[in-house]
Amino acid sequence: MEFGLAEKTVIVTGAGSNIGRSIAHSFAREGSNLVIADISEPDGLKVAKEVSEIGVRSLFIRMDVSKPDEVESMSKKTLDEFGKIDVLVNNVGWDHLGLFINKPREEWVKEVDLNFWSVINCTKAVLEPMIEQKSGAIVNISSDAGRMGEFQETVYSGCKAGVIAMTKSLAREVGRHGIRLNVVCPGATVGSPDDYGEGSMWRTDDMAQFLTPEVLEKMAKAYPLRRIGNPEDISNSVVFLASDAASWITGQTLSVSGGYTMM
Ligand SMILES: NC(=O)c1ccc[n+]([C@@H]2O[C@H](COP(=O)([O-])OP(=O)(O)OC[C@H]3O[C@@H](n4cnc5c(N)ncnc54)[C@H](O)[C@@H]3O)[C@@H](O)[C@H]2O)c1
Repeated sequence: MEFGLAEKTVIVTGAGSNIGRSIAHSFAREGSNLVIADISEPDGLKVAKEVSEIGVRSLFIRMDVSKPDEVESMSKKTLDEFGKIDVLVNNVGWDHLGLFINKPREEWVKEVDLNFWSVINCTKAVLEPMIEQKSGAIVNISSDAGRMGEFQETVYSGCKAGVIAMTKSLAREVGRHGIRLNVVCPGATVGSPDDYGEGSMWRTDDMAQFLTPEVLEKMAKAYPLRRIGNPEDISNSVVFLASDAASWITGQTLSVSGGYTMM
């Protein structure tokens, strides 16, 4: 299969850790040049170095996806360095488990900022150059929680559902400009401890409680394929949806979750 991703300019937000890092590696293996956009400088610089060692150009940009001015500046810096933006992967997301009734308002605000405003801000920042060049692909990382709803993930699920609906709506608006948007919904995806950079949500104690072999084994039983995902499961599907091999696919939502969600 010909992906046609060599020499393409790909921005991956949250590429410093885990799923985002794997997405950056996968595009680099296809010969794409990478913008590693992350709030964590040590994680982002590390991944930028890793992908350049694969043999492509890379640029780390420290930015906060919830701040429109920083996001606009990321888009500008990318154009200055590479002259075009072919692919945007909106990967940053953030979750903290808890019952809706018990959550402090600050957590909802952070959930909306990092799971929904992030996608709005970054999409807006790349859309004009994509419209001008009459091509582009955007892959948004949502979650099965956004399709099914999930216990203790109420606002997170609402934001992830919003990402799916936004993707479909915008796909209808910009298809005429040669721009495609699709969504990947991971199920539980756990990398090796080396995958979690300092900016990863999995670094916090209560998220880390999921990383014991006993809990992971129990969780795997809820998946028809009887295993938890790894970051590469997700990045393979992102590369496909961003590629020429998916040139007639837009506005679609793909669950990559071992059959956990079937829709
Ligand atoms: N891992 C899973 O089990 C799972 C399941 C379903 C959906 N997802 C989704 O997949 C995506 C990636 O998840 P993950 O587990 O790899 O996350 P992670 O927390 O391990 O990594 C997130 C990355 O984003 C960066 N980041 C955090 N806040 C940022 C900000 N404000 N601006 C810029 N960068 C920022 C972090 O530094 C880190 O590198 C998220 O959208 C998440 O909701 C993950």
